[in-house]
Amino acid sequence: MIYKAFDKRYSEMQYRKCGTSGLKLPLISLGLWHNFGKKTINPESKKVIYKAFDLGITHFDLANNYGPPYGSAEINFGKIMKTDFKKYRDELIISSKAGYDMWAGPYGEWGSKKHIVASCDQSLKRMGLDYFDIFYSHRFDPNTPLEETADALENIYKSGKTLYVGISSYSSKKTKEIYKILKSRNIKILIHQPSYSIINRWIEKDLTQTLINYGIGCIAFSPIAQGMLSEKYLKKIPKNSRANQKITSLNKKLITSKNIKTINDLNVIAKKRGQSLAQMSIAWVLNNKAVTSALIGVRNLKQLKENVESLNNLNFSKNELLLINKKAKDGGINLWLASSSY
Ligand SMILES: NC(=O)c1ccc[n+]([C@@H]2O[C@H](COP(=O)([O-])OP(=O)(O)OC[C@H]3O[C@@H](n4cnc5c(N)ncnc54)[C@H](OP(=O)(O)O)[C@@H]3O)[C@@H](O)[C@H]2O)c1
Repeated sequence: MIYKAFDKRYSEMQYRKCGTSGLKLPLISLGLWHNFGKKTINPESKKVIYKAFDLGITHFDLANNYGPPYGSAEINFGKIMKTDFKKYRDELIISSKAGYDMWAGPYGEWGSKKHIVASCDQSLKRMGLDYFDIFYSHRFDPNTPLEETADALENIYKSGKTLYVGISSYSSKKTKEIYKILKSRNIKILIHQPSYSIINRWIEKDLTQTLINYGIGCIAFSPIAQGMLSEKYLKKIPKNSRANQKITSLNKKLITSKNIKTINDLNVIAKKRGQSLAQMSIAWVLNNKAVTSALIGVRNLKQLKENVESLNNLNFSKNELLLINKKAKDGGINLWLASSSY
């Protein structure tokens, strides 16, 4: 059956301006890191993409190596772009990234111009797109001059392969540096994509203030801490969970007894707010005034609907915030720390 978008798709979702740009992003964006790969997309995942758009989620985030296997999420999303979403291209914000390992050899990862430009071309081809809305340097590369990574972004931007450029997991210091380099070439960084959640707050130290000062938007990824900030890990590790997959980014070792205690404490606060823990975690991230959008991942339609309903209660009382701060301990879950440590 041919997909037709829901007529009232813009009636419920809220949108925020991305930094000082004119671009608005939905408060919730959908990432295709997990669950959208393989040779043929899982039928439930396909439904998730359609439903997300029907709920007003206009932003879909990808990267060269999302899958597994690498590239397959882009190929699968590309198939939808070539068919059902084709006529909605101008209603969509599609992003991709380069910087993590993608192909063999010295040009298959990091921040050289060779890697980033070639990877962008490959991603466009996989998705069958003429351009991206946002293209990111996925991580800071300590062995490539920042001027060269900026060259790569400039090349992609000025050749029309992306409308906006972004950076991911850069420290405040490196954000300022690349911002200045690109500004001297008349290019403004639109957005930063850092990891951020109640139990992973590294951006609060100085990055958020830098983003506000420079007018850069912020899309916070893994707001549910890869699922840890949900009810599924309150007692044990369930079968159908990211932590229980053979190849996974959520190592069981991260679900420590200290983290389980924190999750249980936070769950009590969420319940008092009339929200699930996942919903409170998304709302909490959006409560940071630097944050434009919360970038979630979901396994199924149920999770998507539950998460979007977090928008029904975005306000926190002073007491709730104090209590969350008291109960929330750093979970030691920031897998992207190395990139932001320069
Ligand atoms: N720039 C970067 O370096 C970078 C790195 C990582 C991610 N990202 C982006 O951020 C996106 C989101 O990352 P993420 O998937 O880690 O985000 P997340 O939203 O924190 O975690 C998503 C996972 O949490 C579980 N979950 C979600 N909603 C739930 C609910 N209501 N109840 C119970 N469990 C729930 C599901 O896992 P189960 O499988 O356990 O059900 C789901 O796959 C990615 O797709 C990608 O676009 C970017």
